[in-house]
Amino acid sequence: MSHPDPRTADAVRADVSEQYTRAVTEGTGCCSINPPAAAASSCCGPTAVVPKGNAAKLAGYAASDLASLPADAVTNSFGCGNPVGMALVKPGDTVLDLGSGAGIDLLLAARFAGAEGKVIGVDMTDAMIERARANIAEAGAHNIEVRKGVIEHLPVGDSSVSVVISNCVINLSPAKAAVFSEIARVLQPGGRFSVSDIVAEDLPDWVRAIPDAYSACVSGAIPEQDYIQGLRDAGLTDIEVVDRFVYDPDQILGMLESDLPGFAERLAGMGITRESIAAVLPTLQGKVASIKVTGRLPA
Ligand SMILES: C[S@@+](CC[C@H](N)C(=O)[O-])C[C@H]1O[C@@H](n2cnc3c(N)ncnc32)[C@H](O)[C@@H]1O
Repeated sequence: MSHPDPRTADAVRADVSEQYTRAVTEGTGCCSINPPAAAASSCCGPTAVVPKGNAAKLAGYAASDLASLPADAVTNSFGCGNPVGMALVKPGDTVLDLGSGAGIDLLLAARFAGAEGKVIGVDMTDAMIERARANIAEAGAHNIEVRKGVIEHLPVGDSSVSVVISNCVINLSPAKAAVFSEIARVLQPGGRFSVSDIVAEDLPDWVRAIPDAYSACVSGAIPEQDYIQGLRDAGLTDIEVVDRFVYDPDQILGMLESDLPGFAERLAGMGITRESIAAVLPTLQGKVASIKVTGRLPA
């Protein structure tokens, strides 16, 4: 289940964290890749004129929800779906968001959890945590707490949350089995989870050789059936893929150019041109998708 990346888990996390620090301080916000309406507009990349935040609008959020959030939370959304919903989070729930970023899903979940509920975000990147706390303050939400930590060893007690959510983060973990076990550990019996994430089948070596393809949520992704099996192996049940969007090659290029700033320059430094990537892109047809997967811990 661990991704066959020759780097240590700590090195992978350090690189991902550095990339997301730059993304939130300099970038244009596009790890989110995008449903059909978005296909016409190249979300990401040096030539794109799409502002930060476009990704979030394209990733399954209601326009009215986006309009009601602090602009910065929308601008700095890096998700690939919308894991939160009224059917999932109920008043009084304790919700945990794995890799909470700048806080978009924390804020939405907090509305459903209400004053008697609580929302906890965990992220390893200081710049993201600062941004989330600022956005929470701006929204005036009093039922959200953000903790620093890694999702493979959550700073959260056993059986202490009723709902786990996550948006485009587990693909970035170098130890996915540990993350799935942590979901099972922190959930109360009968607790639910809803995760939006990238899955990928049989990625060719040239993708894995591209610098930043991991942080861009592509080359750390595992096949959908491995993802589901990993959740099952952790003791989770009623697992269902409730949404799936398969990206076309141009959208995958958008992910690779996902405005983790400096991507084009780093590629050029390795002698890789955009054209050379574009030429092999068709080999990715049908291989990369975002899914929304739900389930629960047995009661
Ligand atoms: C693609 S962004 C998604 C952020 C947020 N969920 C959203 O939808 O905007 C990935 C986030 O996960 C965090 N992250 C990645 N790997 C992590 C890990 N192993 N432990 C904790 N945080 C992690 C990053 O710091 C970053 O904030």
